[in-house]
Amino acid sequence: MNQTLILVLNCIFLFFINELTAQDMSIDQKVDGLLSKMTLEEKIGQMNQYSSFYDVTGPAPSEANAKKKYDHIKGGLVGSMLNVKGVEEIRKMQKLAVENSRLGIPMIFAYDIIHGYKTLSPIPLAESASWDLEAIEKSARIAATEAAAAGLNWTFAPMMDVSRDARWGRVMEGAGEDPYLGSLIAAARVRGFQGDDLSASNTILACAKHFAAYGFAEAGRDYNTVDIGLSTLYNIVLPPFKAAQEAGVRTFMNSFNELNGIPATADEFLQREILKGEWGFEGFVVSDWGSVKEIAYHGQAESEEHATERAVNAGSDMDMESYYYVNHIKGLVESGKIEEAKIDDAVKRILRTKFELGLFDDPYKYCDEEREKTMIYHDDHMKAVLDIAKKSIVLLKNEDNLLPLPKSGKKVALIGALADDKNSPLGSWRIASDDNTAISVLEGMKAYKGNELLHSAGPALVNGEVSFVMQVNINKDDRSGMEEAVATAKDADVVVMVLGEHGFQSGEGRSRTKLDLPGLQQELLEAVYAVNKNVVLVLMNGRPLAISWAAEHIPTIIEAWQLGTQSGHAIAQVLYGDYNPAGKLPMSFPRTVGQVPIYYNNKHTGRRYPEPVVFWSHYIDEENSPLYPFGYGLSYTTFEYKNLNVKVQGKKVDVEVTVQNTGSLAGEEVVQLYIRDRVASVTRPVKELKGFDKIMLQAGESKKVSFTLTEQELGFYNNQRKFVVEPGFFDLMVGGNSADGLSTEFEIE
Ligand code: BGC
Repeated sequence: MNQTLILVLNCIFLFFINELTAQDMSIDQKVDGLLSKMTLEEKIGQMNQYSSFYDVTGPAPSEANAKKKYDHIKGGLVGSMLNVKGVEEIRKMQKLAVENSRLGIPMIFAYDIIHGYKTLSPIPLAESASWDLEAIEKSARIAATEAAAAGLNWTFAPMMDVSRDARWGRVMEGAGEDPYLGSLIAAARVRGFQGDDLSASNTILACAKHFAAYGFAEAGRDYNTVDIGLSTLYNIVLPPFKAAQEAGVRTFMNSFNELNGIPATADEFLQREILKGEWGFEGFVVSDWGSVKEIAYHGQAESEEHATERAVNAGSDMDMESYYYVNHIKGLVESGKIEEAKIDDAVKRILRTKFELGLFDDPYKYCDEEREKTMIYHDDHMKAVLDIAKKSIVLLKNEDNLLPLPKSGKKVALIGALADDKNSPLGSWRIASDDNTAISVLEGMKAYKGNELLHSAGPALVNGEVSFVMQVNINKDDRSGMEEAVATAKDADVVVMVLGEHGFQSGEGRSRTKLDLPGLQQELLEAVYAVNKNVVLVLMNGRPLAISWAAEHIPTIIEAWQLGTQSGHAIAQVLYGDYNPAGKLPMSFPRTVGQVPIYYNNKHTGRRYPEPVVFWSHYIDEENSPLYPFGYGLSYTTFEYKNLNVKVQGKKVDVEVTVQNTGSLAGEEVVQLYIRDRVASVTRPVKELKGFDKIMLQAGESKKVSFTLTEQELGFYNNQRKFVVEPGFFDLMVGGNSADGLSTEFEIE
């Protein structure tokens, strides 16, 4: 392109920008003004999203695919990029679009910032165990602050797929099995990412994903078929998405799975009827990676054109990496298979968000090297992720108060391949972050100087203290070191064992058929226990595990998930009692994988009671109940619930309960309220969470906790998709988990 032409194009761009940024115009007017100047090709370009490629400024990349992307960006045929990161790269990429394309429309830069950009919070499932909405919102804000400082505008988070099946690797990315908790967490995360002002330098677009029912993949196998009824769809799957929409989420991502025979990307019922129709969603929907292409693989389209037609007509506004929109929409509009009005609608949605982000005021507004330098791994972020990491830890068992450990005078052996692992605690889905940047448990424990950490063959001394770390590989069958570990354990007062899954054993494409401790870890645990009963088991994992043997034998177990950058400090503070754990499980832990999917809000069935004969709903070789139920978690202190009172006025129910700290330490408790609609036109779950409050109580202190149930909590969607509150009796339970508590009943007339 010659210099004169570039100059002319720049003038045209400035003219449009001035025109578009006129103070007195609303965003909708600006969008309409811009749209009226766009050719069909330019509109289609906005609906096209590509992943990054090397060598942004050129010489033009030689690899054909990259060259094509490069040319498309310059030609104004790309609306958004994903996987470009860092101010320098993003600035270069943005320049390609803004300075070369006819209208100079800036691109949006997206990334999977799932639990942090560089400074990492716990994985989302872990964070959900905090039941602390403020902390969860803050954690999303930290992620947004660092991402926006690195030039990004959009995260593909939060994932809000309700999931009941721990075999599915992506349970680590969500908020667990409950739609009520999941809805509140979804809204908190959206607020955290987006704030009140999308054009601020510490906010980015959030994305409610995966729409919908991806978490119900049959047999827990990722990408598998989903077939569920309306009742489950409306009452279990959709609520978090609706909550995200109500919290103002600007984008949705559809999902890889088919739902009841229709690939979600081609599902008009989900995207047009429910999301954009019933819910009035005004943002845009992006496909999942290549999911437009996959419509044909599902067997619902016979050609690339056909898949494109289905996806666009169903309401998928942006195509991530299929290349189908950019290649085929034009022909489909010309042949009348797609109305141009649908393209206009999609493009308006996309342009609106670009205006909201402030990209038309300054396409480089997120590209500030100085901000990038100061915000990444900021001290305040480190403090905040340590706080949420502590809050995410769940104490599963503490027989004889083995924990907290005294800070001095004990010989502690630290054993397990994960004990000095600085990578696994970062978990899956942390692609922007740096490897090996977590504080390991060993490092966290070394910060407490008083105790002697026993040494056998482990690493060198630090400040005169010695440590032993058993390097039995998680997944291999190498027994070397086993004998040494046992000998060291024998000589210790307490053995801390850090066992579980490595950081990439959960996440996308990481489904498992077994939920036990992988590799030789169970054998190691039993061998150590045989010589020393004082074992503290620290679990590090991305999903619920089936740990029945440990639950029966090991006196103390803490669920420490994958807690992110500050993992080791958080765990050490819990081990030594500087933090009293208060986390509660967001997913049921099965006794055995054969019980999965297992969840607390199940239905009664017609054969619910234990009978002397075999013909009731049960297993002949295992109990029905989970090992640890949803909402479960202990503290170093104890709580007592009393004086449960319920007052009904019309369709409003006021509930009051008194909770007392009956132990000798201050502690927090998550007070949980569950109801059951006893008889309804569509059967209701045996229990449903409908309220919770996290309270702090000093030793001996009592507090009254109140809840109000309204139609929203009392009602449900019937099979005509109508939200109804039906008269009749309800059971009500308040307690510290979903299985125990005080109960009463009330009636709605
Ligand atoms: C995942 C999405 C993710 C996308 C982009 C897909 O494989 O399912 O959740 O946002 O890739 O990285």
